[in-house]
Amino acid sequence: MNDELKIPVHVGIIMDGNGRWAQERGMVRTMGHKSAINTLKELCAHMAEVGVKYCSLYAFSTENFKRDKKEVKFLMNLFVSSFKKEYIKLKERGVRIVFSGRREPLPQEVLDIIDQITEETKVNSDLVLNVCLNYGSHAETVDMVKKICEQYKKGDISLDDIDEEFIQRNMYQDLPPLDFVIRTSGELRLSNFMLYQASYAEFYFPQVYFPDFNSEEFDKAILEFNKRKRRFGGVENETKNS
Ligand code: IPE
Ligand code: IPE
Ligand code: MG
Repeated sequence: MNDELKIPVHVGIIMDGNGRWAQERGMVRTMGHKSAINTLKELCAHMAEVGVKYCSLYAFSTENFKRDKKEVKFLMNLFVSSFKKEYIKLKERGVRIVFSGRREPLPQEVLDIIDQITEETKVNSDLVLNVCLNYGSHAETVDMVKKICEQYKKGDISLDDIDEEFIQRNMYQDLPPLDFVIRTSGELRLSNFMLYQASYAEFYFPQVYFPDFNSEEFDKAILEFNKRKRRFGGVENETKNS
């Protein structure tokens, strides 16, 4: 990719369209989830290569528990098997992996492997992969408010300590704000993904389903990001694009 291009510091990817990808090929929906893992492997390597520093991946929303039990079970098993299979390579590449979302009601096997991966990759810093699993922005807001109230109740903080930075530090992860949010499959919504963190993000909605969102598609997204003029409420000659 062209060296002159600005690379967003924090990219969010809403990995949507797995089911439709499979159905259009006459396969069961779950085959789309399986195929998404291969895409993800390619994308992670590519993002590390081009210099993305933080990537938040929407893997499973709090609302996705509404799906058919069999699909949920398939996804949980797929998370466990792919995490176990892939994390060593990511760890060796210098990738730090963190997880955002509620632990309840994730199965114990999922919790065990995510705890292990978080611990084993915590010294890395080349690329931070924030895997949003059983994640919902509304749930995160509720959890953040409770966390802050606990601190207040214990007398550890006063009301004056609560400012925007403090709110940010009490989210699931203290990461820089999202610069660029990509949602595949042509849907034009956030579906409860990082509402607070995306306040000044640029949005990109490619038509392709996630299993087809390869490195080439990612590069197209970066080209689109470079066309955007970010103002952050200021005026044009003060634009900053990362
Ligand atoms: C995204 O693909 C993956 C998850 C939500 C877990 P979908 O499963 O939502 O696929 P579509 O949108 O139904 O095609
Ligand atoms: C959002 O996709 C969640 C993930 C990609 C993990 P959904 O497919 O669940 O979103 P809706 O239901 O179409 O809004
Ligand atoms: Mg979907």
